[in-house]
This record gives sequence, structure tokens and C-alpha cells, in this order.
Amino acid sequence: MKEYKNVHILDHPLIRHKLAIARDKNTKTKQFREIISEIAMLMAYESFKEVPTQVVEVETPLEKTEQTVVKENSIAIVPILRAGLGMVDGILTLFPAAKVGHIGLYRDEETLEPHEYYCKLPTHIDEKVVMVVDPMLATGGSACDAITLLKKRGCKHIKLMSIIAAPVGVEKVAETHPDVDIYVSTLDRCLNENGYILPGLGDAGDRIFGTK
Ligand code: PRP
Ligand code: URA
Repeated sequence: MKEYKNVHILDHPLIRHKLAIARDKNTKTKQFREIISEIAMLMAYESFKEVPTQVVEVETPLEKTEQTVVKENSIAIVPILRAGLGMVDGILTLFPAAKVGHIGLYRDEETLEPHEYYCKLPTHIDEKVVMVVDPMLATGGSACDAITLLKKRGCKHIKLMSIIAAPVGVEKVAETHPDVDIYVSTLDRCLNENGYILPGLGDAGDRIFGTK
């Protein structure tokens, strides 16, 4: 794959360890859901390094001091339904005040084209740093459409966090949206003929919600 300035691989032994559990077909729904949430939390710690901050005055038991905190009302998390929902709680552990929007997209099983069926976003989303989350970045179609939709709503600071990505999907998003920082924990080999990532972890939505 070509090198892109806006693509960041968040490689860490702890994330790799958790990924190995998530990939295992014998991992059951409860543990799978927990692991996806934990990986999302670890990725958020790194990908929000440049989170907007503000200076506040704090009084310690000894004196007043100026301290830096995360800027109020500055962050929105937007999961792509369904599977993106599995990443929200982990990120909210670190940013409990973040607003959460939802974009519903499903891939047509034949064409692999995404179709929108739901969209509800926080007010003033155009003023926030928006983190789109979806565990799987396969052809990149769903992520690209979600980002385009957010741009149409005026969003200027958009990031994308996906746990597992195929090179073709990363390339598509990186080239369509060069202004968007893309964070993935691993780049897998390729897609199979049905658009599934190899080695991947299977269908993330089905494994999070136990639907198959
Ligand atoms: C999966 C996944 C992504 C999309 C990735 O969703 O969660 O949203 O496919 O594929 P792409 O990069 O080729 O667009 P799916 O359509 O299976 O819906 P679900 O989350 O409701 O299961
Ligand atoms: N969506 C998934 O859930 N898994 C894949 O491997 C590709 C798309």
C-alpha cells in the first residue's frame, strides 16, 4: 500500500493481544463485545492525542493553579450502525461528556454498496471534532459515505477509527478524504470475493450482537 500522511496504524502489543482473541472464531459474544470495546478505548487514548483543550483555574489544598482540561462540548463520536455501536462505550470511558450521533448504513451483499437508513446527529456537530467509528474498514464504501454525509452537515474536523482495515479500504478513504485522519490498529491482507477482510474476524455486527 502507498504511504498516506493521514493514515495512522496504532500498533501496540496490548491491542494485538486483544485482537487475537477477537479474531478467534471460538470467542463468544460476551467476550467479543468486551474486547471490541477495550480495543476502542485503547485506540481512543492514542487517536485523541490532539484533543481540543482549554485552561481552567483549579484550587488545590495549597493554592490556585491553571490546568488544562478537555474542551467542553468539543467532541462527538459517530458510530456507523450496527457494528460501530460496539466501540462507543469504550471511548466514552475516556470521554464521558462526548456527544454521540448515529449513522445507519448497511452493505448490499451483492454489490457491496452502502445504503443509508438512519441518521441522527448532535446539534452543533459542525463545531465539534467528530470521530467516526466502525470496527471494519473493508471496501471503504461505508466510511466514505458516512464522512461525506458529515461534511454535508458542515463538519470540518473529522477522524475515522477502525479496528481492522483492508488496504483497499484505507486507500479509498485516504484518497477520497485526504483531510480526514484515519486510525486503524491493523492492516489485514485483502478482501475475499464476498468483501470480507482476510484474515479479519468475520462479520463484526453479527459477532457483537450474536445475530448469527
Ligand atoms: C459492515 C461493517 C462496516 C461495513 C464495512 O457493516 O460494520 O460498516 O460492513 O464494509 P465496507 O468498508 O465495504 O463498506 P454491515 O453492512 O455488515 O452492517 P452491520 O454493521 O449492520 O452488520
Ligand atoms: N464487514 C464485516 O463485518 N467484516 C468484514 O470482514 C467486512 C465487512
